[in-house]
Amino acid sequence: MARPALLQRRVSLLSLSLLCLVPWVQSNGNGLALTPPMGWMAWERFRCDTDCKDDLENCISEKLFMDMADRLSEDGWRELGYEYVIIDDCWMSRTRDKNGTLQPDPDRFPSGIKRLADYVHNRGLKLGIYADMGTGTCMNFPGTTLDKIKLDAQTFASWEVDYLKFDGCNSNALEQLLGYPLMSKALNATGRPMVYSCSWPVYIGSLPPEVNYTLLGDICHLWRNYYDIQDSWDSVQFIMDWFFNNQDYIQPAAGPGKWNDPDMLIIGNFGLSLDQSRTQMALWSIMAAPLIMSNDLRSLDNAARAILQNKVALSINQDPLGIQGRRLFKEKTKIEVYWRPLVDGASALVFLSRRSDMPYLYHTSLEKLFFEKGNYEVYDVFQSSKLKPLKSTEQFTVSINPSGVVMLHLKPVRSESGHRTLL
Ligand code: GLA
Repeated sequence: MARPALLQRRVSLLSLSLLCLVPWVQSNGNGLALTPPMGWMAWERFRCDTDCKDDLENCISEKLFMDMADRLSEDGWRELGYEYVIIDDCWMSRTRDKNGTLQPDPDRFPSGIKRLADYVHNRGLKLGIYADMGTGTCMNFPGTTLDKIKLDAQTFASWEVDYLKFDGCNSNALEQLLGYPLMSKALNATGRPMVYSCSWPVYIGSLPPEVNYTLLGDICHLWRNYYDIQDSWDSVQFIMDWFFNNQDYIQPAAGPGKWNDPDMLIIGNFGLSLDQSRTQMALWSIMAAPLIMSNDLRSLDNAARAILQNKVALSINQDPLGIQGRRLFKEKTKIEVYWRPLVDGASALVFLSRRSDMPYLYHTSLEKLFFEKGNYEVYDVFQSSKLKPLKSTEQFTVSINPSGVVMLHLKPVRSESGHRTLL
């Protein structure tokens, strides 16, 4: 995916001169994704398993998506906001049909995508699909070249799809510069509201000047900034470090209808401990990240379920102000502090330990964390317990497990007149 720097620079000069030619369209003015999208996506957990003969339960087939729709609607996920069931790569037939239209693999999706969409809609959920701006998808199924953009958008709309993940394998920077805005326009032109997820930044270096985050916010509802997540703590750390190391570039780009996407939640799979799973949930909530799980909802254990269904963590993630949080400190002791402002003067704090010895006692006060003077109600998100009210000047201590977090929700205490109570 990485491109040589020189090529990137040349392309970005070229992009400048082409900017005026491209028909920019607002796609996120359509009231979709006003909070980060939530749901389930096949890729990280089920990849490109097409072996339905020997692995019927896990292969990419309509059954897998129907199973997940059943779980989302019957196990309490939908009510919490997890509403998108998203097909990733490897759903297509190896060839387009005689009219040039994309078609699903006939053996693995015998009922067709429209019927699958009906199944999902009947359960109060929404269906997402995957396509790729280029000559082939990342797994070499048919791609969407520039001349096919309009047709593919219309096909997805005719199937009543609600969300498109538009990947960028097998295309060059110029094709992407033209193709991503064109797809936005084509989706809008169908008249069907569809969330548009762009993988564009991953393919052009992730950061300005190559990536124009203002433009992304105008045409996409969410975008993949960086590398694919894998089922490991190393991968989670690699991704979150990139996002917070580059927060000055990417944090201002996010807001209602436009989100940075650090990739799927892998909680419930094989790679994360309980503490590390809480860490992913906490930091994805601080980042206002889309909460798209990629796990097996049919066999999720209760601990993973409790983390993914934690109502306070979800309310932090889904806060209506939609302000992405930031890292405040990295201490020499390997403790890091993260903060996100929330509606009505509330906020969330996360204390993360990057240590590998034992629980660490971290002493601080809200004043040291730049909180306004006053009294605060404090709720410990993963202990599900209300703590005693805290004065901003008061010292307090949190005990943070190795590779784990303490996540707090804080609300200013107001007097009856509505003013903050001061000390
Ligand atoms: C890329 C994307 C992944 C997934 C695969 C599918 O790597 O970044 O999220 O969609 O392609 O092939």
